Amino acid sequence: MKNIAGSPVEGEDFYGREAVVSRLQEILAHDDILLLGPRRIGKTSAARAVMKAVRAEGWRAIEINVASCTNESGFLEKLDDELSPVLASLPAKAKEAMIDAFNAIGGRIKSIKIQAGAGSFGVELGTADAESWTKVASDVLRLIEQADEHWLIYVDELPIMLFNIIRNDSQGGIQRVRRFLDWFRNDVRAMPGSRKVRWLVSGSVGLDTLVQEHGMADTINSMNHQGLKAFDDEVAVDMLEELAKSYEIALSEEGARKIVDAIRWPQPYYLQMAFHHLRELKSTQSSVSMESLIGQAIDRMVQPGSDNDFHYWEQRLSIQLSRSDAEHAMALLNLSARNPSGTRAESLLETMIGRMPNASPEEAKRTFVRLRDILLRDAYWGIDESTGSRRYHFLLEPLRRWWLRRDTL
Ligand SMILES: Nc1ncnc2c1ncn2[C@@H]1O[C@H](COP(=O)(O)OP(=O)(O)OP(=O)(O)O)[C@@H](O)[C@H]1O
Ligand SMILES: [Mg+2]
Repeated sequence: MKNIAGSPVEGEDFYGREAVVSRLQEILAHDDILLLGPRRIGKTSAARAVMKAVRAEGWRAIEINVASCTNESGFLEKLDDELSPVLASLPAKAKEAMIDAFNAIGGRIKSIKIQAGAGSFGVELGTADAESWTKVASDVLRLIEQADEHWLIYVDELPIMLFNIIRNDSQGGIQRVRRFLDWFRNDVRAMPGSRKVRWLVSGSVGLDTLVQEHGMADTINSMNHQGLKAFDDEVAVDMLEELAKSYEIALSEEGARKIVDAIRWPQPYYLQMAFHHLRELKSTQSSVSMESLIGQAIDRMVQPGSDNDFHYWEQRLSIQLSRSDAEHAMALLNLSARNPSGTRAESLLETMIGRMPNASPEEAKRTFVRLRDILLRDAYWGIDESTGSRRYHFLLEPLRRWWLRRDTL
């Protein structure tokens, strides 16, 4: 198993989520999936494993990453780019059905390119404005439904595209996002062959916050919402031992457990990060005890220079929340970072009331509850009630330490 900390993993390197992949595959038999979660949690790796699994069942699967798209036609172009080679590989009968369908549609799709033999086969789109692009997109889908196959379309980073649209069009952006999501929910589902095309949509900035803030939660409710849980401690320990074996590093079970405890929320990425630092330290300080190296490796995770991943947790607040909400959320997080076991709910609420001098206590409480729900859902916080009172604490211990450090003079 390779120590990869950053890019999506596959095959032997994809560890511990086989059951998750099977579950996602089962859901796709009758539902579309919305897979949301913080950065680096393993969404792309899991989605690609799902693509592999459905392909093994004879499905066609394509992946489009729409992070760089700033408008709807960008989305269509991506779809087109990925579809073309797959369409080219379809059997002749399927291609003929598509050509017939193309002739019946007329107009909105400019042409489908067909060459004899091994040549290209693709859909060339006419120019689509914001109004008509949904029709073009539906036409493309109608076209691929002609090929008598099951399809999985994996759309990665959709929330980023939607935020791009809003940022670039302050007048009509929200309306366009609503139209886009409505297209997903209504038009796509209403198509006669819609059961043949399944969608797996994923992303890391809060699509759920976006739709709630703008009163369009209904648009994504038709999708089956899924997340990726952290590993059980046992699985996390096993993964570290597996990595240690591959790199011939003598890491005892106790040592592995120490790392898992220090991370607290054992998502595979943070295990990979810790192991990466341990491996580097080991190569330069081979005579130092493993226990000391583990401590140093965890420290390195929160030091400047290797902390880019944590900056994202901070940035995400201002991307998806209004300025004042983002500042409130920061204040709540700052307070809860002071202690690994977090802060009592009452103290956090008090802070909130203090920050909103012109609001009634009820209003301040509502704001607290709203932000608390976001912080829980986006995996900043967990709840601990073991001491009798309710405490909110950072889930990811290295993130807490980083947060505390950046909030300290
Ligand atoms: N199943 C897994 N087994 C081992 N490592 C994993 C697994 N899933 C994720 N990782 C680790 O997490 C890193 C990020 O994975 P991936 O790119 O799939 O996450 P992501 O949620 O798509 O991230 P981003 O939000 O940045 O796109 C990998 O480089 C790897 O270190
Ligand atoms: Mg990804």
